[in-house]
Parts: sequence; structure tokens; C-alpha cells
Amino acid sequence: MRLITSRSLVRIQPPLLVNANLKVCSFLRFNPPKAAKGTVIKGIIFYFSGTGNTEFVAKKYQEYLQVLGYEITIQAIDSLKITPNIENYNLIGVGFPLYAWNLPINVRKFIEQLPNCQNKDGFIFVTAGGPTPLGALGITKDLLKKKGIKVLSAECLEMPSNDNILFSAADPKSARVQRLRQKAQERIKRIIKTIPIGQSKIHGDNQFMKLLSRLTGFWLNKIYRPYFHYHKFYVDEKCLPNCRFCEQICPVNNIKKLAPQTVVFDRTCILCARCINCCPVSAIQYGKSKNKHRFQDPDYNPPLLR
Ligand SMILES: Cc1cc2nc3c(=O)[nH]c(=O)nc-3n(C[C@H](O)[C@H](O)[C@H](O)COP(=O)(O)O)c2cc1C
Ligand code: SF4
Ligand code: SF4
Repeated sequence: MRLITSRSLVRIQPPLLVNANLKVCSFLRFNPPKAAKGTVIKGIIFYFSGTGNTEFVAKKYQEYLQVLGYEITIQAIDSLKITPNIENYNLIGVGFPLYAWNLPINVRKFIEQLPNCQNKDGFIFVTAGGPTPLGALGITKDLLKKKGIKVLSAECLEMPSNDNILFSAADPKSARVQRLRQKAQERIKRIIKTIPIGQSKIHGDNQFMKLLSRLTGFWLNKIYRPYFHYHKFYVDEKCLPNCRFCEQICPVNNIKKLAPQTVVFDRTCILCARCINCCPVSAIQYGKSKNKHRFQDPDYNPPLLR
């Protein structure tokens, strides 16, 4: 079913929203449109988050869309056991962190294995350590279009960098981290107002920007990852003998703890930096990472996947 557009929405304060929601509405400082009588727009947000930024953003989209009367479920794709049934949803959201100005490979695979559907609406959000996604939003829009999902909104939100793979992660105690989180929340409030209407222009959705992102993605996944990446992981003397946390949280089962201080890394890594940033004693090193900060969102608890 096609998402209800602004024309079919009644622009009045919904009388049935509970008090708590009314408080959030005034906090959002706008009168949310209400779906036509008897219609509930059901949506699902699929997201991947290595260190919590994208999860934080996914939860904010969920919270603010629910204020508009949508029924929104959020689902981390690394916790999914089976291909999801999207038949019951009118609105499909996809969120992920930017890697070399492109999609993480697990997110691309996830979209490619989605069942074909017709006349569903969608939206995309990317979190990034910098301000521009180059052509990543356009590339993702094209992937979703092939599945029959029409993208109404696609946005990049600048968040603290978790990148201990290519550069350095943000200092989690810095004021900038708080500022970026706050700014992202304010932007999401504005973004969700455009979802029912549809965005007129998607940033970087042109052939040139998409080509740049394809080139940087090719470099990361086809050159850096197979030839320069794997041998850079090692675990130092801080590793805790009875801990298996990294093994449990790796989204692609790439880590094995073989002995009290022996941890090995296989070749399926998707470069999410979760293990490096979330090891409780910062024992996982990657190249010259010893003196780098470890970043994860303050509310993030990595999922225990095994
Ligand atoms: C391997 C890798 C590559 C990255 N590449 C980019 C990039 O090209 N541009 C950018 O702005 N941020 C880049 N980042 C930063 C992340 O996109 C950013 O910190 C994101 O918010 C992390 O989200 P998460 O906490 O949900 O995993 C990269 C991070 C990693 C680990
Ligand atoms: S998470 Fe850290 S401390 Fe725990 S097993 Fe892995 S490297 Fe060792
Ligand atoms: S090995 Fe570490 S960086 Fe690679 S996919 Fe697993 S958790 Fe992510």
C-alpha cells in the first residue's frame, strides 16, 4: 500500500494521542499530521550500527515518527536470523554508518536479498564522521528502487567518528560528541516532517557523486580489505583471560578466542570497528591504535550474537 501523502493527511492535533505524546509534540514544536481515520501506517527501520551512532539515530526516528502516529519497529540487521517479512509494512527505513563514502558490505547484501515488493515507501539515513556522504545516499536509493521501494527521504547525519581502522576515533569525553548528538536530534525532528511529503532532492544523487562513492567503496572493499587489512589486528597483554566479548559481538563471526590471551581474526571482517572500540579493556589493537581513543555511543550495548 502506498504511504499516505500530505494531501490525505489531516493537519490537526490528533485528539487520541496520550499525554506523554502531546508533551513530545510541543517539544517537537509542530502539529503532527494525522493519518486518515482508521489508517495506521506501519513502518520498520532496518539498521546496522557498529558502535551505536546509527542505533541512536534509528531510535530517534522511531520515537519522533511514533509521535506522528506511525507504528514503527526497529530491527538491527546483524541480530536478524531469517529474511524479514516486509509485507506487513507500508514504510521501510534503512540506516547505516558510512564506510569510505559508501555502504557497509553487509548492508548492501541485506538490501539485495530483500524480497521484491511493490508500491512501498522508504527512507534512508546514514551516520558519518564527516558532513558529506558523497553519492552513498543515491546508490542506496537505487538499490531500494530495484526492490520496489520509493525513497521519500535520504539524509546524512554527522556523528562522532568511530574510525579506528583508517583514521582515529573521536574522544568520547569531548564536548563535540555531546554537541553532535544534540545537533543530530534537532535535525531528525526536522527530517521526519518531510517524510510524509517526500523530499524534493537527495544529496549527492547524481552520476558524478555516485561514481566517486563507487571508487572509494571499491578501494576499501576490493583493495584495502583483502590486501592491507587482516594482518593489522592483534590483541595485547590487557586481554582478560575469562572474557569472550569480542567473539560474541562481532557481527560476522570473524573472531575466535582460542586461549586465555589468544584471539584470532579471520577474513570475513566488514570493518565495523566494533571489536576495537567496545573491548572492555581496549586490548584489541589495529595497526598503530594503542594511543587512539575508543569510541562508542554512551547508550550503546553491543548485541551478544553468540
Ligand atoms: C572503516 C570505516 C570507514 C569510515 N569511513 C567514513 C567515511 O568515508 N566518511 C565519514 O564521514 N565517516 C566514515 N567513518 C565514520 C563512521 O561512518 C561514523 O563514525 C558512523 O557514525 C559510525 O556509526 P556506528 O556507530 O553506527 O557504527 C568510517 C568508519 C569506519 C569504521
Ligand atoms: S573483548 Fe577484549 S578482553 Fe575480551 S576477549 Fe576480546 S580482546 Fe580479550
Ligand atoms: S572483526 Fe571487529 S571490525 Fe571486523 S567485523 Fe568483527 S567486530 Fe567488526
